[in-house]
Amino acid sequence: MKTQVAIIGAGPSGLLLSRYLAKHGVESIVIEDRDREYVESRIRAGLLESQTVSLMDELGLADRLKREGLEHKGVYLQLPGERKRFDFEELIGYTVWVYGQTEIQKDLGRACDAAGQQIFYEVSDVQFSDIETETPKVRFVDSDGNAQVIECAIIAGCDGFWGPSRKAIPGVEVGTFERTYPFSWLGVLANVAPSTDELIYAWHPDGFAMHSMRSPEVSRLYLQVDPDDDIANWSDDRIWEALSTRMAVDDWELKTGEITEKSILAMRSFVAGKLSHGRLFLVGDAGHIVPPTGAKGLNSAANDVRFLGEGIVSFFNQGSDALLNAYPERAKETIWRVTHFSWWLTTMLHTHGNEFDNQLQLSQLKHLFRNEALQMNFAQNYVGIR
Ligand code: FAD
Ligand code: PHB
Repeated sequence: MKTQVAIIGAGPSGLLLSRYLAKHGVESIVIEDRDREYVESRIRAGLLESQTVSLMDELGLADRLKREGLEHKGVYLQLPGERKRFDFEELIGYTVWVYGQTEIQKDLGRACDAAGQQIFYEVSDVQFSDIETETPKVRFVDSDGNAQVIECAIIAGCDGFWGPSRKAIPGVEVGTFERTYPFSWLGVLANVAPSTDELIYAWHPDGFAMHSMRSPEVSRLYLQVDPDDDIANWSDDRIWEALSTRMAVDDWELKTGEITEKSILAMRSFVAGKLSHGRLFLVGDAGHIVPPTGAKGLNSAANDVRFLGEGIVSFFNQGSDALLNAYPERAKETIWRVTHFSWWLTTMLHTHGNEFDNQLQLSQLKHLFRNEALQMNFAQNYVGIR
Protein backbone atom coordinates (compact mmCIF):
# COMPACT_ATOMS: atom_id res chain seq x y z
CA MET A 1 0.00 0.00 0.00
CA LYS A 2 1.10 3.56 -0.65
CA THR A 3 -0.07 6.71 1.08
CA GLN A 4 1.28 10.09 2.15
CA VAL A 5 0.95 9.62 5.92
CA ALA A 6 0.76 6.39 7.94
CA ILE A 7 -1.03 6.98 11.25
CA ILE A 8 -0.40 4.51 14.08
CA GLY A 9 -3.35 4.41 16.51
CA ALA A 10 -7.06 5.23 16.07
CA GLY A 11 -7.50 7.07 19.39
CA PRO A 12 -8.48 10.75 19.43
CA SER A 13 -5.04 11.89 18.13
CA GLY A 14 -4.92 9.45 15.21
CA LEU A 15 -8.46 10.00 13.95
CA LEU A 16 -8.38 13.78 14.46
CA LEU A 17 -5.12 13.94 12.49
CA SER A 18 -6.58 11.84 9.68
CA ARG A 19 -9.58 14.23 9.50
CA TYR A 20 -7.31 17.31 9.59
CA LEU A 21 -5.14 15.96 6.78
CA ALA A 22 -8.13 14.90 4.67
CA LYS A 23 -9.62 18.37 4.97
CA HIS A 24 -6.40 19.77 3.48
CA GLY A 25 -6.15 17.18 0.71
CA VAL A 26 -3.51 14.92 2.32
CA GLU A 27 -4.09 11.13 2.23
CA SER A 28 -3.52 8.82 5.18
CA ILE A 29 -3.97 5.22 6.31
CA VAL A 30 -4.69 4.46 10.00
CA ILE A 31 -3.77 1.21 11.77
CA GLU A 32 -5.02 0.29 15.27
CA ASP A 33 -4.30 -2.77 17.40
CA ARG A 34 -7.68 -2.93 19.25
CA ASP A 35 -11.15 -3.45 17.78
CA ARG A 36 -13.38 -0.49 16.96
CA GLU A 37 -15.94 -1.18 19.68
CA TYR A 38 -13.23 -1.24 22.34
CA VAL A 39 -11.75 2.04 21.10
CA GLU A 40 -15.18 3.71 21.08
CA SER A 41 -16.16 2.60 24.58
CA ARG A 42 -13.00 3.51 26.56
CA ILE A 43 -14.13 5.85 29.33
CA ARG A 44 -11.51 8.54 29.67
CA ALA A 45 -11.51 12.31 29.25
CA GLY A 46 -14.61 14.47 29.52
CA LEU A 47 -13.71 18.13 29.35
CA LEU A 48 -12.85 20.06 26.19
CA GLU A 49 -11.01 23.37 26.02
CA SER A 50 -12.46 26.01 23.73
CA GLN A 51 -9.53 25.48 21.29
CA THR A 52 -10.28 21.75 21.03
CA VAL A 53 -13.92 22.58 20.28
CA SER A 54 -12.76 25.11 17.64
CA LEU A 55 -10.60 22.45 15.96
CA MET A 56 -13.52 19.99 15.94
CA ASP A 57 -15.76 22.74 14.53
CA GLU A 58 -13.28 23.56 11.76
CA LEU A 59 -13.20 19.88 10.80
CA GLY A 60 -17.01 19.63 10.70
CA LEU A 61 -17.01 17.40 13.81
CA ALA A 62 -18.81 19.57 16.33
CA ASP A 63 -22.51 19.26 15.39
CA ARG A 64 -23.42 16.61 17.99
CA LEU A 65 -20.99 18.12 20.50
CA LYS A 66 -22.82 21.47 20.24
CA ARG A 67 -26.22 19.73 20.44
CA GLU A 68 -25.57 17.22 23.23
CA GLY A 69 -22.45 18.55 24.97
CA LEU A 70 -22.75 20.81 27.99
CA GLU A 71 -21.14 24.25 27.78
CA HIS A 72 -19.71 25.26 31.17
CA LYS A 73 -18.85 28.85 31.97
CA GLY A 74 -16.95 28.05 35.16
CA VAL A 75 -15.92 25.51 37.82
CA TYR A 76 -16.05 25.25 41.60
CA LEU A 77 -12.99 24.76 43.80
CA GLN A 78 -13.60 23.80 47.39
CA LEU A 79 -11.94 23.53 50.79
CA PRO A 80 -13.76 22.29 53.89
CA GLY A 81 -16.82 24.48 54.43
CA GLU A 82 -16.22 26.77 51.44
CA ARG A 83 -17.09 26.23 47.78
CA LYS A 84 -15.99 29.00 45.42
CA ARG A 85 -17.11 29.44 41.81
CA PHE A 86 -14.63 30.63 39.18
CA ASP A 87 -16.48 32.27 36.31
CA PHE A 88 -14.28 31.80 33.23
CA GLU A 89 -16.58 33.76 30.98
CA GLU A 90 -16.45 36.78 33.29
CA LEU A 91 -12.71 36.43 34.00
CA ILE A 92 -11.41 35.85 30.47
CA GLY A 93 -14.38 35.53 28.10
CA TYR A 94 -14.00 31.82 27.30
CA THR A 95 -15.92 28.64 28.20
CA VAL A 96 -15.24 24.87 28.23
CA TRP A 97 -17.41 21.92 27.11
CA VAL A 98 -18.28 18.65 28.82
CA TYR A 99 -18.42 15.92 26.16
CA GLY A 100 -17.09 12.39 26.71
CA GLN A 101 -14.12 10.93 24.85
CA THR A 102 -16.37 7.97 23.97
CA GLU A 103 -18.64 10.37 22.04
CA ILE A 104 -15.69 12.08 20.32
CA GLN A 105 -14.42 8.66 19.22
CA LYS A 106 -17.85 7.75 17.79
CA ASP A 107 -18.14 11.09 15.96
CA LEU A 108 -14.63 10.67 14.55
CA GLY A 109 -15.35 7.07 13.53
CA ARG A 110 -18.50 8.13 11.66
CA ALA A 111 -16.72 11.02 9.94
CA CYS A 112 -13.98 8.62 8.82
CA ASP A 113 -16.61 6.18 7.50
CA ALA A 114 -18.36 8.96 5.58
CA ALA A 115 -15.06 10.03 4.00
CA GLY A 116 -14.03 6.45 3.13
CA GLN A 117 -10.96 6.74 5.39
CA GLN A 118 -8.94 3.52 5.36
CA ILE A 119 -8.61 2.20 8.93
CA PHE A 120 -7.22 -1.25 9.79
CA TYR A 121 -8.42 -2.39 13.23
CA GLU A 122 -7.01 -5.36 15.20
CA VAL A 123 -3.56 -5.22 13.60
CA SER A 124 -0.51 -6.81 15.23
CA ASP A 125 3.27 -6.88 14.99
CA VAL A 126 3.69 -3.22 13.94
CA GLN A 127 7.25 -2.43 12.82
CA PHE A 128 8.94 0.57 11.25
CA SER A 129 11.82 0.77 8.81
CA ASP A 130 13.69 3.48 6.89
CA ILE A 131 12.37 6.22 9.18
CA GLU A 132 15.52 8.25 8.52
CA THR A 133 14.84 8.24 4.77
CA GLU A 134 12.23 10.02 2.61
CA THR A 135 10.37 6.72 2.15
CA PRO A 136 9.69 5.17 5.55
CA LYS A 137 7.67 1.96 5.80
CA VAL A 138 5.26 0.47 8.32
CA ARG A 139 4.85 -3.31 8.40
CA PHE A 140 2.01 -5.01 10.25
CA VAL A 141 -0.19 -8.09 10.25
CA ASP A 142 -3.85 -7.34 9.50
CA SER A 143 -6.88 -8.86 11.27
CA ASP A 144 -6.97 -11.72 8.73
CA GLY A 145 -3.37 -12.62 9.46
CA ASN A 146 -1.94 -11.15 6.22
CA ALA A 147 1.40 -9.34 6.29
CA GLN A 148 1.03 -5.76 5.01
CA VAL A 149 3.39 -2.89 4.20
CA ILE A 150 2.55 0.82 4.04
CA GLU A 151 4.98 2.93 2.03
CA CYS A 152 4.61 6.58 2.98
CA ALA A 153 6.46 9.88 3.39
CA ILE A 154 5.58 10.52 7.04
CA ILE A 155 4.64 8.34 10.03
CA ALA A 156 2.50 9.86 12.80
CA GLY A 157 2.88 7.92 16.06
CA CYS A 158 -0.53 8.43 17.69
CA ASP A 159 -0.36 5.11 19.58
CA GLY A 160 -0.50 6.28 23.19
CA PHE A 161 1.92 5.69 26.02
CA TRP A 162 2.33 1.93 25.44
CA GLY A 163 2.53 1.91 21.63
CA PRO A 164 5.62 1.13 19.49
CA SER A 165 6.30 4.61 18.02
CA ARG A 166 8.14 6.20 20.94
CA LYS A 167 10.25 3.08 21.36
CA ALA A 168 11.33 3.36 17.71
CA ILE A 169 13.10 6.67 18.37
CA PRO A 170 16.79 6.08 19.08
CA GLY A 171 17.95 7.79 22.27
CA VAL A 172 14.42 8.91 23.22
CA GLU A 173 15.18 8.25 26.90
CA VAL A 174 17.74 11.07 26.93
CA GLY A 175 15.94 14.17 28.21
CA THR A 176 12.79 12.22 29.07
CA PHE A 177 11.08 13.46 32.23
CA GLU A 178 8.77 11.37 34.37
CA ARG A 179 7.10 11.83 37.73
CA THR A 180 4.75 9.34 39.33
CA TYR A 181 2.50 10.65 42.09
CA PRO A 182 1.93 8.94 45.45
CA PHE A 183 -1.83 8.65 44.82
CA SER A 184 -4.32 7.40 42.22
CA TRP A 185 -7.88 8.25 41.19
CA LEU A 186 -10.79 5.94 41.68
CA GLY A 187 -13.21 6.93 38.89
CA VAL A 188 -16.89 6.02 38.78
CA LEU A 189 -19.61 6.46 36.22
CA ALA A 190 -23.12 6.56 37.71
CA ASN A 191 -26.66 6.67 36.39
CA VAL A 192 -27.68 9.67 38.44
CA ALA A 193 -28.32 13.29 37.49
CA PRO A 194 -25.31 15.48 38.42
CA SER A 195 -25.71 17.15 41.83
CA THR A 196 -24.01 20.24 40.44
CA ASP A 197 -24.34 22.53 37.42
CA GLU A 198 -20.54 22.77 36.96
CA LEU A 199 -17.51 20.64 37.94
CA ILE A 200 -16.41 20.57 41.60
CA TYR A 201 -12.75 20.05 42.62
CA ALA A 202 -12.63 19.49 46.40
CA TRP A 203 -9.66 19.50 48.78
CA HIS A 204 -10.31 17.39 51.92
CA PRO A 205 -7.99 16.00 54.63
CA ASP A 206 -9.15 12.46 53.66
CA GLY A 207 -8.08 13.15 50.05
CA PHE A 208 -9.22 14.93 46.88
CA ALA A 209 -12.70 14.39 45.42
CA MET A 210 -14.20 15.57 42.18
CA HIS A 211 -17.64 15.80 40.60
CA SER A 212 -17.88 15.82 36.81
CA MET A 213 -20.61 14.59 34.48
CA ARG A 214 -21.31 13.16 31.06
CA SER A 215 -24.93 14.23 30.48
CA PRO A 216 -27.97 15.49 32.42
CA GLU A 217 -28.54 11.83 33.47
CA VAL A 218 -24.97 10.57 34.01
CA SER A 219 -22.43 11.67 36.64
CA ARG A 220 -18.66 11.05 36.58
CA LEU A 221 -16.97 11.19 39.99
CA TYR A 222 -13.44 10.71 41.27
CA LEU A 223 -11.81 10.00 44.64
CA GLN A 224 -8.14 10.15 45.55
CA VAL A 225 -7.01 6.69 46.71
CA ASP A 226 -3.72 4.97 47.50
CA PRO A 227 -1.78 3.84 44.40
CA ASP A 228 -1.72 0.26 45.67
CA ASP A 229 -5.39 0.23 46.69
CA ASP A 230 -7.60 -2.44 45.15
CA ILE A 231 -10.97 -1.63 43.58
CA ALA A 232 -12.36 -4.66 45.44
CA ASN A 233 -11.94 -2.64 48.67
CA TRP A 234 -14.41 -0.05 47.42
CA SER A 235 -18.06 -1.11 47.66
CA ASP A 236 -20.56 1.28 46.04
CA ASP A 237 -21.72 2.36 49.53
CA ARG A 238 -18.18 3.15 50.62
CA ILE A 239 -17.61 5.20 47.45
CA TRP A 240 -20.77 7.29 47.91
CA GLU A 241 -19.99 7.86 51.57
CA ALA A 242 -16.44 9.04 50.85
CA LEU A 243 -17.63 11.31 48.03
CA SER A 244 -20.36 12.82 50.25
CA THR A 245 -17.93 13.43 53.12
CA ARG A 246 -15.19 14.94 51.00
CA MET A 247 -17.51 17.20 49.00
CA ALA A 248 -19.80 18.25 51.89
CA VAL A 249 -20.81 21.90 52.23
CA ASP A 250 -23.87 23.43 53.92
CA ASP A 251 -27.20 23.19 52.07
CA TRP A 252 -25.89 20.81 49.42
CA GLU A 253 -26.38 17.08 49.04
CA LEU A 254 -24.74 14.55 46.73
CA LYS A 255 -27.35 12.47 44.87
CA THR A 256 -26.43 8.80 44.68
CA GLY A 257 -27.40 6.19 42.06
CA GLU A 258 -26.39 3.03 40.24
CA ILE A 259 -22.63 2.82 39.62
CA THR A 260 -22.09 1.38 36.14
CA GLU A 261 -18.27 1.46 35.98
CA LYS A 262 -15.48 1.86 38.50
CA SER A 263 -11.71 1.63 38.16
CA ILE A 264 -8.46 2.96 39.61
CA LEU A 265 -6.16 5.09 37.44
CA ALA A 266 -2.48 5.75 38.12
CA MET A 267 -1.26 9.32 37.83
CA ARG A 268 1.95 10.41 36.16
CA SER A 269 3.60 13.29 34.36
CA PHE A 270 5.77 12.27 31.40
CA VAL A 271 7.47 14.16 28.57
CA ALA A 272 9.50 12.21 26.00
CA GLY A 273 13.02 13.44 25.30
CA LYS A 274 12.31 13.66 21.55
CA LEU A 275 9.04 14.09 19.67
CA SER A 276 10.47 13.18 16.28
CA HIS A 277 13.17 11.24 14.52
CA GLY A 278 13.59 11.42 10.75
CA ARG A 279 10.09 11.07 9.34
CA LEU A 280 8.48 9.69 12.53
CA PHE A 281 6.55 12.16 14.73
CA LEU A 282 4.96 11.53 18.15
CA VAL A 283 1.50 12.91 18.88
CA GLY A 284 -0.62 13.00 22.07
CA ASP A 285 -0.08 10.38 24.78
CA ALA A 286 2.72 8.76 22.74
CA GLY A 287 4.87 11.80 23.55
CA HIS A 288 3.52 13.10 26.83
CA ILE A 289 1.17 12.27 29.71
CA VAL A 290 -0.31 14.44 32.45
CA PRO A 291 -2.28 13.50 35.57
CA PRO A 292 -5.98 14.05 34.82
CA THR A 293 -6.51 16.81 37.42
CA GLY A 294 -6.24 19.66 34.90
CA ALA A 295 -8.19 17.79 32.15
CA LYS A 296 -5.34 18.40 29.72
CA GLY A 297 -4.56 14.95 28.19
CA LEU A 298 -7.00 14.99 25.30
CA ASN A 299 -6.75 18.75 24.86
CA SER A 300 -2.98 18.79 24.48
CA ALA A 301 -3.27 15.86 22.05
CA ALA A 302 -5.60 18.05 19.94
CA ASN A 303 -3.03 20.85 20.16
CA ASP A 304 -0.34 18.48 18.80
CA VAL A 305 -2.67 17.48 15.97
CA ARG A 306 -3.06 21.10 14.91
CA PHE A 307 0.70 21.77 14.95
CA LEU A 308 1.71 18.53 13.24
CA GLY A 309 -1.21 18.85 10.82
CA GLU A 310 -0.03 22.34 9.80
CA GLY A 311 3.51 21.03 9.34
CA ILE A 312 2.44 18.07 7.20
CA VAL A 313 0.07 20.13 5.04
CA SER A 314 2.74 22.74 4.43
CA PHE A 315 5.22 19.94 3.57
CA PHE A 316 2.96 18.39 0.92
CA ASN A 317 1.06 21.42 -0.34
CA GLN A 318 3.73 24.15 -0.21
CA GLY A 319 6.79 21.93 -0.53
CA SER A 320 8.36 23.39 2.64
CA ASP A 321 9.57 21.36 5.61
CA ALA A 322 10.10 24.36 7.93
CA LEU A 323 6.80 23.99 9.86
CA LEU A 324 7.18 20.21 10.00
CA ASN A 325 10.66 20.50 11.48
CA ALA A 326 9.37 23.13 13.93
CA TYR A 327 6.70 20.71 15.25
CA PRO A 328 8.59 19.43 18.31
CA GLU A 329 9.48 22.92 19.53
CA ARG A 330 5.99 24.32 18.85
CA ALA A 331 4.27 21.37 20.55
CA LYS A 332 6.63 21.34 23.53
CA GLU A 333 5.77 24.89 24.52
CA THR A 334 2.16 23.83 25.17
CA ILE A 335 3.21 20.45 26.58
CA TRP A 336 5.31 22.06 29.31
CA ARG A 337 2.60 24.64 30.10
CA VAL A 338 -0.01 21.89 30.61
CA THR A 339 2.55 19.74 32.44
CA HIS A 340 3.12 22.56 34.91
CA PHE A 341 -0.58 23.39 35.30
CA SER A 342 -1.56 19.73 35.84
CA TRP A 343 1.29 19.22 38.32
CA TRP A 344 0.35 22.44 40.21
CA LEU A 345 -3.35 21.59 40.47
CA THR A 346 -2.57 17.97 41.43
CA THR A 347 -0.04 19.02 44.06
CA MET A 348 -2.36 21.63 45.56
CA LEU A 349 -5.44 19.39 45.77
CA HIS A 350 -4.16 15.92 46.81
CA THR A 351 -3.29 15.28 50.43
CA HIS A 352 -0.70 12.82 51.69
CA GLY A 353 -1.02 12.93 55.47
CA ASN A 354 1.51 15.70 56.11
CA GLU A 355 0.05 18.56 58.18
CA PHE A 356 2.64 21.12 57.02
CA ASP A 357 1.81 20.37 53.38
CA ASN A 358 -1.93 20.49 54.19
CA GLN A 359 -1.52 24.03 55.54
CA LEU A 360 0.47 25.11 52.48
CA GLN A 361 -2.23 23.71 50.19
CA LEU A 362 -5.02 25.45 52.10
CA SER A 363 -3.09 28.71 52.07
CA GLN A 364 -2.67 28.49 48.29
CA LEU A 365 -6.36 27.73 47.81
CA LYS A 366 -7.48 30.60 50.07
CA HIS A 367 -5.11 32.97 48.24
CA LEU A 368 -6.62 31.84 44.93
CA PHE A 369 -10.15 32.28 46.33
CA ARG A 370 -9.41 35.94 47.24
CA ASN A 371 -7.00 37.13 44.53
CA GLU A 372 -8.36 38.07 41.11
CA ALA A 373 -4.94 38.10 39.38
CA LEU A 374 -4.45 34.45 40.39
CA GLN A 375 -7.99 33.63 39.27
CA MET A 376 -7.25 35.02 35.77
CA ASN A 377 -4.12 32.85 35.62
CA PHE A 378 -6.09 29.79 36.75
CA ALA A 379 -8.85 30.52 34.23
CA GLN A 380 -6.41 30.99 31.31
CA ASN A 381 -4.63 27.73 32.06
CA TYR A 382 -7.82 25.74 32.67
CA VAL A 383 -9.58 27.02 29.55
CA GLY A 384 -6.38 26.59 27.54
CA ILE A 385 -5.74 30.11 26.31
CA ARG A 386 -1.99 30.36 25.73
P1 FAD B 1 -4.84 6.97 23.15
O1 FAD B 1 -6.18 7.49 23.44
O2 FAD B 1 -4.08 6.23 24.11
O3 FAD B 1 -4.86 6.30 21.74
C1 FAD B 1 -3.78 5.54 21.25
C2 FAD B 1 -4.30 4.46 20.36
O4 FAD B 1 -3.22 3.70 19.84
C3 FAD B 1 -5.18 3.46 21.11
O5 FAD B 1 -6.40 3.31 20.43
C4 FAD B 1 -4.35 2.20 21.16
O6 FAD B 1 -5.15 1.04 21.18
C5 FAD B 1 -3.55 2.34 19.88
N1 FAD B 1 -2.34 1.52 19.87
C6 FAD B 1 -1.52 1.17 20.90
N2 FAD B 1 -0.56 0.33 20.48
C7 FAD B 1 -0.73 0.15 19.15
C8 FAD B 1 -0.07 -0.60 18.16
N3 FAD B 1 0.96 -1.39 18.45
N4 FAD B 1 -0.53 -0.55 16.90
C9 FAD B 1 -1.59 0.22 16.57
N5 FAD B 1 -2.29 0.96 17.48
C10 FAD B 1 -1.85 0.92 18.75
N6 FAD B 1 -7.61 12.94 29.98
C11 FAD B 1 -8.36 13.93 30.40
O7 FAD B 1 -8.20 15.05 29.87
N7 FAD B 1 -9.32 13.72 31.38
C12 FAD B 1 -9.52 12.46 31.93
O8 FAD B 1 -10.38 12.28 32.78
C13 FAD B 1 -8.74 11.39 31.49
N8 FAD B 1 -8.89 10.12 31.98
C14 FAD B 1 -8.08 9.12 31.50
C15 FAD B 1 -8.21 7.80 31.97
C16 FAD B 1 -7.37 6.77 31.51
C17 FAD B 1 -7.52 5.35 32.04
C18 FAD B 1 -6.38 7.06 30.55
C19 FAD B 1 -5.44 5.98 30.04
C20 FAD B 1 -6.27 8.36 30.06
C21 FAD B 1 -7.11 9.39 30.53
N9 FAD B 1 -7.01 10.69 30.04
C22 FAD B 1 -7.78 11.69 30.50
C23 FAD B 1 -6.07 11.03 29.02
C24 FAD B 1 -6.73 11.07 27.64
O9 FAD B 1 -7.69 10.05 27.54
C25 FAD B 1 -5.62 10.91 26.65
O10 FAD B 1 -4.77 12.02 26.78
C26 FAD B 1 -6.10 10.77 25.21
O11 FAD B 1 -6.78 9.56 25.05
C27 FAD B 1 -4.90 10.83 24.28
O12 FAD B 1 -5.26 10.40 23.01
P2 FAD B 1 -4.24 9.65 22.08
O13 FAD B 1 -5.01 9.38 20.84
O14 FAD B 1 -2.98 10.42 22.01
O15 FAD B 1 -3.87 8.32 22.84
C1 PHB C 1 -13.94 14.04 33.48
O1 PHB C 1 -15.08 14.47 33.23
O2 PHB C 1 -13.66 12.84 33.35
C2 PHB C 1 -12.91 14.98 33.96
C3 PHB C 1 -13.17 16.33 33.94
C4 PHB C 1 -12.22 17.22 34.42
C5 PHB C 1 -11.03 16.74 34.91
C6 PHB C 1 -10.76 15.38 34.92
C7 PHB C 1 -11.71 14.49 34.45
O3 PHB C 1 -10.12 17.61 35.41
